[in-house]
Amino acid sequence: MTDIPNPAPDTVSFPRPLAGKRALVTGGASGIGAAVARTLADRGAHVVIADRDRDAAEQLSKEISGSSWVVDFLDPSAVSDAALAPALDGIDILVNNAGIQKVSPIEEFDPADFRRILTLMLEVPFLLIRAALPSMYAQGFGRIINVSSVHGLRASPFKSAYVTAKHGLEGLSKVTALEGGEHGVTSNCVNPGYVRTPLVEKQIADQAVVHGIPEDEVLSKIMLTESAIKRLVEPAEVASLIGWLASPDAAMVTGASYTMDGGWSAR
Ligand SMILES: NC(=O)c1ccc[n+]([C@@H]2O[C@H](COP(=O)([O-])OP(=O)(O)OC[C@H]3O[C@@H](n4cnc5c(N)ncnc54)[C@H](O)[C@@H]3O)[C@@H](O)[C@H]2O)c1
Repeated sequence: MTDIPNPAPDTVSFPRPLAGKRALVTGGASGIGAAVARTLADRGAHVVIADRDRDAAEQLSKEISGSSWVVDFLDPSAVSDAALAPALDGIDILVNNAGIQKVSPIEEFDPADFRRILTLMLEVPFLLIRAALPSMYAQGFGRIINVSSVHGLRASPFKSAYVTAKHGLEGLSKVTALEGGEHGVTSNCVNPGYVRTPLVEKQIADQAVVHGIPEDEVLSKIMLTESAIKRLVEPAEVASLIGWLASPDAAMVTGASYTMDGGWSAR
């Protein structure tokens, strides 16, 4: 066999593989983000919870001995270069997770809501990645993990802004992977189906209205129809995948999109 130099990092797992790492989780005060913050902290990282919900962010950061950054990413002054450069400097693991949903047919979709969703779920991840890369490149290590969705890979009616933003995030993640490879920076998406979080609970009533069915039929008739496994994903299951993507074991995983959708996208 030709002796091609192929230095592999030490991939032996140990209980706290993220010890010494600094992670930032947007939307880290609730749902998937909160589960991710707990998992990364369990694995040794110092976690910064970046969220507009002050009380929840401060409470969770205390619980996991991390820190909080109370920020509304839809406030333009919060995402200026001057604000982002110090906040992202020295971050080893960036989890782009903050997201919102709006369910409405295109012809009734408020353009202001469309713009808000695109800003929060596509432009803000771009700005955060842009601010995080210089120090990641300087140290030769970085993990960008983008919380996409099965809706980054598949469409559903009445979710034009969300599906558009998540498809865009898939592209951004792949470009980041290509540019970051030679600097030790990986970038990946995770693609859950419906997860048991406040975002989904809030959506059940809206789905009932647009589909014209009772709320108690939304789960079986709308949300889980495409899945082979008929249950919601748990936030901790998504967090476990993200914990692995952040670890040294995943050093060769980049530009990928990992579904956790109970088989939805197998169709
Ligand atoms: N729940 C699901 O079924 C599901 C499925 C696939 C993907 N996702 C994605 O997972 C991510 C998290 O969703 P979730 O279900 O945990 O939602 P969630 O509503 O439980 O949590 C979202 C968090 O983001 C924060 N946030 C929202 N807007 C913000 C802003 N402008 N600035 C700062 N923080 C803000 C909220 O305060 C909240 O803490 C989203 O990107 C979502 O698209 C969710």
